[in-house]
Amino acid sequence: MTLNARDPAAIEAAAQRLAAGGLVGMPTETVYGLAADAGNASAVRGIFEAKGRPSDHPLIVHLPPAEGGDWRAAVAPLAHSVPDFAVVLMKAFWPGPLTLILPRRPEVAAVAAGGQDSVGVRCPSHPVAQALLVAARRLGVMGVAAPSANRFGRVSPTTAAHVAEEFAELKDDQLLILDGGACPVGIESTIVDCSRGYPVLLRPGMVTTAQIEAACDQPLRERDEAAPRASGTLESHYAPTARVRLMDGKQIHAALDVLGKDAKHIAVYSRGTLRAARAVLQRRMPADAAACAQELFAVLRELDATGVKLIWVETPPDGADWDGVRDRLQRAAA
Ligand code: TXA
Ligand code: MG
Repeated sequence: MTLNARDPAAIEAAAQRLAAGGLVGMPTETVYGLAADAGNASAVRGIFEAKGRPSDHPLIVHLPPAEGGDWRAAVAPLAHSVPDFAVVLMKAFWPGPLTLILPRRPEVAAVAAGGQDSVGVRCPSHPVAQALLVAARRLGVMGVAAPSANRFGRVSPTTAAHVAEEFAELKDDQLLILDGGACPVGIESTIVDCSRGYPVLLRPGMVTTAQIEAACDQPLRERDEAAPRASGTLESHYAPTARVRLMDGKQIHAALDVLGKDAKHIAVYSRGTLRAARAVLQRRMPADAAACAQELFAVLRELDATGVKLIWVETPPDGADWDGVRDRLQRAAA
């Protein structure tokens, strides 16, 4: 069941669904989440089951904005020993597309955390997500666990219709989707591990390394073997059914020349114009990283739905603002 999030009654119904241990498709600024009460172990198990996700892959807990901007107090019920640099990052980027991994209080959100002794926390900036988190809290839901609302290993959803597609067999009483329109950021949050005394990048996103380093005035380290497992960090992820291949513009042209008219099974997502005579399905990749991120998953879904066997994607430009997009495309192509 999909309800228009502009209707206040829809937000209330979704909050009640969460309080009753049910699942809600929640729009955020990044992607849609599959939400449940983080404090309700059986509700959280429902997320893992619906996604087909291994239960040791931790989920992010979403919190409403801190009262009076006191982020340290806002995360205190979930996390202990929160380092100062983490609070600085909260102040700089919350509400927004940044997730922080913090040492977890052993008595809370164990199932959501997939058994890790840490917990991922984020305050989304999307007005519908915030309204839902505030309404749910009034009903006793202190935090909302939500992974991206896609089946395990698939492309993340950026519209309510994508969520409905992913979970088509769930009945109205099993999933309530709030339609808050297309997600404005379009790729998942940047994840920074703050549980080891210094910041470590676990997943790139639209909050960039440079922005994080500038905010906390220390280097952001790359993830290594000691980093906790994160499904968004599996090499193959975000994969459509068609095979995705990253190529530079010249390679795409040369390969199409070889194929001639036999290119009907191929779709191309590239910045340059293809020769007019090309009988190939093309979507133009925006020259701007934010615009590309915003449409990326919807474009992959759309091209995939045409039934093509191959999606040739032009390698993104080098700049750091493309790190998030490049990461998702590399995983889709793995
Ligand atoms: O933008 C987002 O982050 C979206 C929206 C819905 O908030 N959520 C999202 O969730 O992308 P998910 O589950 O698809 O990806 C969350 C990532 C996973 O790679 C997970 O392993 C990692 O965060 N993660 C969560 N808690 C963690 C923890 N305690 N330690 C290490 N990684 C963690
Ligand atoms: Mg995901």
